[in-house]
Amino acid sequence: MGKNNFVVGLDVGTSKVSACIGQLNDNDQIQIIGIGQAVSEGVKQGMITDLERATKAVSKAIEEAEKISGVDISEVSLGVGGSHIKSQHSRGVIAISRTDKEITPKDVERVIDQARAIPVPLEQEVIDVLPQRYIIDDQDGIVDPIGMSGIRLETEVLIISGGVAAIQNMVKVVNKAGLRIKDLVVGSLAVSSSVLLKDEKELGVALVDIGGGKTDIAVFIEGNIRYLGSLPVGGELISKDIAFGLRTSFKEAEEIKKEYGWAKRDLITNAGEISVTGIGRREARKVPVEALVEIIEPRMEEILNIINKEIQKSNLAELIPSGLILTGGASQLRGLEQYAEQVFGMPTRIGAPQEMLGMSSQSQNSGAALSMGLVQLSLQEAMESGHYYKKGKTKLFEPIERWKHWLEDIF
Ligand SMILES: Nc1ncnc2c1ncn2[C@@H]1O[C@H](COP(=O)(O)OP(=O)(O)OP(=O)(O)O)[C@@H](O)[C@H]1O
Ligand SMILES: [Mg+2]
Repeated sequence: MGKNNFVVGLDVGTSKVSACIGQLNDNDQIQIIGIGQAVSEGVKQGMITDLERATKAVSKAIEEAEKISGVDISEVSLGVGGSHIKSQHSRGVIAISRTDKEITPKDVERVIDQARAIPVPLEQEVIDVLPQRYIIDDQDGIVDPIGMSGIRLETEVLIISGGVAAIQNMVKVVNKAGLRIKDLVVGSLAVSSSVLLKDEKELGVALVDIGGGKTDIAVFIEGNIRYLGSLPVGGELISKDIAFGLRTSFKEAEEIKKEYGWAKRDLITNAGEISVTGIGRREARKVPVEALVEIIEPRMEEILNIINKEIQKSNLAELIPSGLILTGGASQLRGLEQYAEQVFGMPTRIGAPQEMLGMSSQSQNSGAALSMGLVQLSLQEAMESGHYYKKGKTKLFEPIERWKHWLEDIF
């Protein structure tokens, strides 16, 4: 983690770049100390299309987060997503040969290494291996085998890989912005930690992150990711339809959608008129809200149907009693919760990041869910592995080292 006392999560999305800085306070609670956001350019569906522009957007978001928090950022955890992310299940088995037969952290490392030793396609690179469960001798469903006794340790893991070129370009952008990458984390995993409740993950739930250019789906059962998918659909499609239908700019279409948009006509409660600026025309036109929603509804229906198909494809639809949690910027469209519930026939809620200390109203929208989740994962991991030293604690060690010779001189 370096000498600094904070961690940074970075989400390079199609619509926005979001950087979140967090640290642990004296009570070991996660505290957000800064969030920076910038309009994204040169990114499409989790992949870089323009190095220069994407780098600028990353720098801008980082600078903003630095300004708010007053810290210098040099290292980030980076979220990755999109259709180049693939997942596959694998198993590993080892024998515990020592006489005490007690399973050590080294044994766990060994069995995971064995499970990950399967061929991945040449153009893919492993970015994470998530242990799902352990089996000791014939006892299944073990969550943490360390310290338990047995002669045979087996594990089932989910291996997550990303497209080599897609990852390299993303890394290049972050490096060009002057940052080192501490960790690559699959976006859905990060979002799940800031948005989902523990019970939902345990019981079974589908997390659907509808962004600007893509929709990432992750199904969680018994606390683990069981399925990952990404679809090339998102809120930009809706804005493009609006720009085309109302003959206005993409930028204005975005604004109109956020301000007046609804997912479905029969859910509108504030029918009225909107004024729309035409392209190259000074006169603003009046357009009824219904006409706007008439454009949005069929596209939203299409997106929801595509998501539904993907959930059915996972073959896990029967195993998610907690239903669907929609998040991401595009999930904020008015009326989406009700509309989605009708389409999916399952309980559906819109999920925003759970409250964390220091959170501003800006971070309460779903746009920051991923970068906040990265901070959460990073701090939790650091706490568990003991790499995280709070200010006071680090100083406990340093002076003693530095003063050692001096102390010896005296005594
Ligand atoms: N209040 C709102 N109502 C409707 N749509 C919204 C609202 N706020 C944001 N959006 C839409 O959300 C989308 C951006 O979402 P998000 O910030 O999650 O995307 P991203 O992470 O940058 O992109 P991606 O994950 O697809 O790469 C845009 O299409 C934007 O128009
Ligand atoms: Mg996103």
